[in-house]
Amino acid sequence: MNKLSTLLVGFGVVGRGFTELLLESREVLANRFGVEVKVVGICDLKWGTIINEDGLDLKRALSIVEGGRRLDIYDLPAKRDLSNLEAIRETASDTVVEVTWTNIETGEPGLTHIREALNMGKNVATTNKGPIALAYRELMSIAKAKNVKLRFEGTVLSGTPTFNLRWYCLAAQEVKAIRGIVNGVTNFILSEMESGISYEEALRKAQELGYAEADPSLDVDGWDAAAKTAILANVLMGADLKPQDVKRRGIRGLTVREVLDAMKRGFKIKLLAEISRNGGSLSARVSPELVPLTDVFASVSGVLNALRFETEALGEVTIIGAGAGGKPTGYALLNDLLDIANALPRR
Ligand code: HSE
Repeated sequence: MNKLSTLLVGFGVVGRGFTELLLESREVLANRFGVEVKVVGICDLKWGTIINEDGLDLKRALSIVEGGRRLDIYDLPAKRDLSNLEAIRETASDTVVEVTWTNIETGEPGLTHIREALNMGKNVATTNKGPIALAYRELMSIAKAKNVKLRFEGTVLSGTPTFNLRWYCLAAQEVKAIRGIVNGVTNFILSEMESGISYEEALRKAQELGYAEADPSLDVDGWDAAAKTAILANVLMGADLKPQDVKRRGIRGLTVREVLDAMKRGFKIKLLAEISRNGGSLSARVSPELVPLTDVFASVSGVLNALRFETEALGEVTIIGAGAGGKPTGYALLNDLLDIANALPRR
């Protein structure tokens, strides 16, 4: 059995979604891929830290936190009161799953966590957009120097294939432009507004469902989409952009009336991310756009996301799928761990 000894840093919506999926997928991982993911530690600023290098009982950890209690009540062979960074330094794990909150100004605390883990020779799987949007090149070069893997499939379109689609399925294609709906919350809000629900009520619903960022202005003002646009541009189109370099306009201030008027005229309003290359220059922007009802993007509603690659030989290739939520994002981490374990079949 190929064993990954994993430290989970962050036990919020994504950390718990990943944990649930791991519990459900244990047999598939073992029987189909010969992989065992042993979680040796969970640390979270709010819920506390538990470490057991023999492996933790994930069901118990989930039920403690779902009951609103801190992880400290979990019985351990030895109590260790470690910060997230200390846990990364002091736990014998070969892999770190980093899912703390997103900060797209500094990337912290995730950036320090990931840098430290890679420098220590640990693999990293993350869905944290800040560190990848701000420091992709630096982090990849540490990973290469240390001969470990850094995977971040879930930073864009959660578990819906984005980087893997480009790297494996469109490998020999030149991508001339990427366009898409990359933020679930704003797409959810816009869809709700199509049925007459106010912006404020729709945002509240998105928060209740666990889709929104801890600070929802990241979503509604287009920052989250700008971070994803920077990631796509840097990773897939050779750019070197920060989220702040992406031209950005969010959906705050849009009214139900504008949404309904657009529909009467045969359009939907969608917050689109667009990256295109014109000769030597690359442009990247996020803004609400009128999308004709005949365009497949118009039928992408709710928290769904979509991404269209404009390629040389295939023309346009569009993928539609989940873009947010604990389990869909957790799925990206699961796939990343299979990749880290070199267990993905290459037929
Ligand atoms: N708040 C983000 C979204 C979460 O709505 O798309 C997934 O990155």
